[in-house]
Amino acid sequence: MTKLKIGICGWGNVATGLYEQLVGGDEIYADWEICCIGARRDNPKCNPGSTKILRDIFKVVDEDIDVLVELIGGVETAKELITMALNSGKHVVTANKAVIFEHGQELINLAKRNNVQLLFESAVCAGTPAIKMLSNDLIANKISKVAGMLNGTTNFILSKMEEGASFEAVLNEAQEKGYAEPDPSLDINGTDAAQKIGILSALAFNSGLPTTNFYIEGIENIQSEDFAYANDFHFTVKHLAVAKLNDRGLELRSHPVMLSKNSSLAGLKGVRNGIQFDTNLLGEFHVAGSGAGRESTASGLISDLYTLANSNQSNPMQYPDFSKKPNLLNFDDLIFKYYVYLEVKDEPGVLALISKIFAAQGIGFDKVIQKDQLDNGNVPIVILTDPIIEKEMQVALQDLENHPVILNSKIIRIEDL
Ligand SMILES: NC(=O)c1ccc[n+]([C@@H]2O[C@H](COP(=O)([O-])OP(=O)(O)OC[C@H]3O[C@@H](n4cnc5c(N)ncnc54)[C@H](OP(=O)(O)O)[C@@H]3O)[C@@H](O)[C@H]2O)c1
Repeated sequence: MTKLKIGICGWGNVATGLYEQLVGGDEIYADWEICCIGARRDNPKCNPGSTKILRDIFKVVDEDIDVLVELIGGVETAKELITMALNSGKHVVTANKAVIFEHGQELINLAKRNNVQLLFESAVCAGTPAIKMLSNDLIANKISKVAGMLNGTTNFILSKMEEGASFEAVLNEAQEKGYAEPDPSLDINGTDAAQKIGILSALAFNSGLPTTNFYIEGIENIQSEDFAYANDFHFTVKHLAVAKLNDRGLELRSHPVMLSKNSSLAGLKGVRNGIQFDTNLLGEFHVAGSGAGRESTASGLISDLYTLANSNQSNPMQYPDFSKKPNLLNFDDLIFKYYVYLEVKDEPGVLALISKIFAAQGIGFDKVIQKDQLDNGNVPIVILTDPIIEKEMQVALQDLENHPVILNSKIIRIEDL
């Protein structure tokens, strides 16, 4: 094991988690030294002992270190810090999916030019192996699809809502436990998962970083009742991010889905993340584990540091070459089966009206259930459709919403894994 001189930038949840694992860890870290910490203020949750503290995080680059661990989050300052470190001949390890998603291609190229490494295992699924596994261990495989529950906070919230808890109460709990991003709206609105699938897609399909704009939807409109209605069809609600390559091009999307309760990802609860890779040699291949939290993230960071310590300066990571980007398919042209929720006035002829509007777009029903009347006197109708093009469904939805007997509507796409 080579000696590794480490500088940590940032002193929040993840940085203190890493510090505690390193100072309290076993002998695999014996030859590693935390030389300094860039922290603009103390963190009452962690005592750094006699480790040198630099209030200006950029000064960490000037220290005698082999690797800078960037744990400040955000995009622009992080990019500046990583750029400075790579240009100074220091390796960089980061857990920051936002900066990799926005500037990954440029930063990876910069690392290559400076003959140093940029490693980011914890940027996707925290410590659950995904990045090095995709880049190295699956190298012999042709991958056709990557589908992941990639946001621990979202899965934590959805799992608790399935048990009956309210959205707001669970979000507070996720923040208190350190699972949520500093700005939790990025978890909730699907951006965090989208950035992670963008990174996995770049590694699996050379789709570039950042990728072209693609469809992103969060869990803001999911309600506890959706789980009860989904249960009638043996479905549950999850947030899924998907990258899928076929002859026509690349499908990339991040949104809530209905999953069969029999699928392997449906059973993952709490902050667990899971990914299904569809490959030519291994077939369907699954990885699942904790996707948020200081311990889990420390696990991924230490795996990157270990890789560096053992790499003997040879390239430990197969970076994409970004030369040939696949064509990104238009979301409106994709085909899904849908769960449709409609809250309607309790009047005769409403079902006939709904059937007529769907029929006009060529949308067939697989199942229709009229539920018990709500306290407000309205009636919920739940429909599962046959497969249909997204833009046809949007037209039907618009037509329904324009009609005064339809008081509320929602669709959730059904994912066949
Ligand atoms: N939390 C998780 O479970 C998790 C999992 C995987 C990856 N990550 C990633 O890990 C990174 C850190 O997350 P975290 O949860 O540790 O966040 P955090 O608790 O908010 O910590 C961020 C730290 O960076 C410092 N910082 C932020 N901007 C700075 C700036 N411009 N200059 C100097 N210091 C700055 C903050 O200082 P102040 O306290 O003074 O603001 C704080 O010490 C993020 O990229 C996140 O996406 C987190």
